[in-house]
Amino acid sequence: MDFELTPELDETIARAAEAIRDARSVVALTGAGLSVESGIPPFRGPGGLWTKYGEPPMDGYQRFLRDPAQSWRERLHPKEGWLRGLQETLEAAEPNDGHRAFSALEEDGHLDALITQNIDDLHRQAGTKQLLEIHGNHFWLRCVECHTRFDPAGFPIDEDALPPLCTDCGGIVKGDTVHFGEPIPPTVLRACYAAVEACDCMIVAGTSATVYPAAEFPLEVLRRGGTVIEVNPYESELTPVASLFLQGPGGAVLQRLHARVREAAS
Ligand code: APR
Repeated sequence: MDFELTPELDETIARAAEAIRDARSVVALTGAGLSVESGIPPFRGPGGLWTKYGEPPMDGYQRFLRDPAQSWRERLHPKEGWLRGLQETLEAAEPNDGHRAFSALEEDGHLDALITQNIDDLHRQAGTKQLLEIHGNHFWLRCVECHTRFDPAGFPIDEDALPPLCTDCGGIVKGDTVHFGEPIPPTVLRACYAAVEACDCMIVAGTSATVYPAAEFPLEVLRRGGTVIEVNPYESELTPVASLFLQGPGGAVLQRLHARVREAAS
């Protein structure tokens, strides 16, 4: 994607940097667009997975609960097709400049929490610590009863005893990704609401802002008189109400924003 840092855009980035420098608490909200530069397709719009293959059935979670052992066999041995292709893409993907800009902002003390809708683990790999994965993580596991999350490295799977059971409460363990039709785990949802409530400046990057409850968060910040900075090469549902719109690809714009915040804070 071509990108030109016009004087107008750079001026808007400078204003966004001042808002971040002067904020009491800054929270980021990211979506699939941030990982496009890591080779992972978005869901909607040009080249989107749902655009190409149609939205998946809305009862993914109910299907899991009906036959968890079968769902696990499909997870461990995915059939040929786009889902398998996506899994391979997720496994090969690496963080990009956008992910790194956020971990640098956090390191500099200008980011208090990052809420991501992405399941690709790239914010974690880029070093972000205060990370809230509201739709789960493709690589991690979670108990459907007590919501304990498990790093797969420490949770061996016995293919003769599927589905695996929680070592804390004995509940069924599934992939951590939140399926369509599945409630967002209360632990992460509570943490998201707490972060949003405390923040007066939100950076929203790479999301169409169409899926709830995440899409509600920037509106909540605006309702309380806070600042919402949107980063997106295309207009989204949020653009008409965003305080500042930084139009361009996440990697380049967020790197410039981080540089400007450093300047503004020095
Ligand atoms: N940099 C930044 N943003 C980009 C880039 C880029 N290089 N390329 C595309 N975008 C923007 C698009 O303009 C679009 O607004 O990223 C957004 C991607 O939107 P979606 O595909 O709808 O992704 P997202 O908002 O994360 O979807 C939310 O929907 O299907 C569910 O669970 C899934 O978490 C997902 C949720």
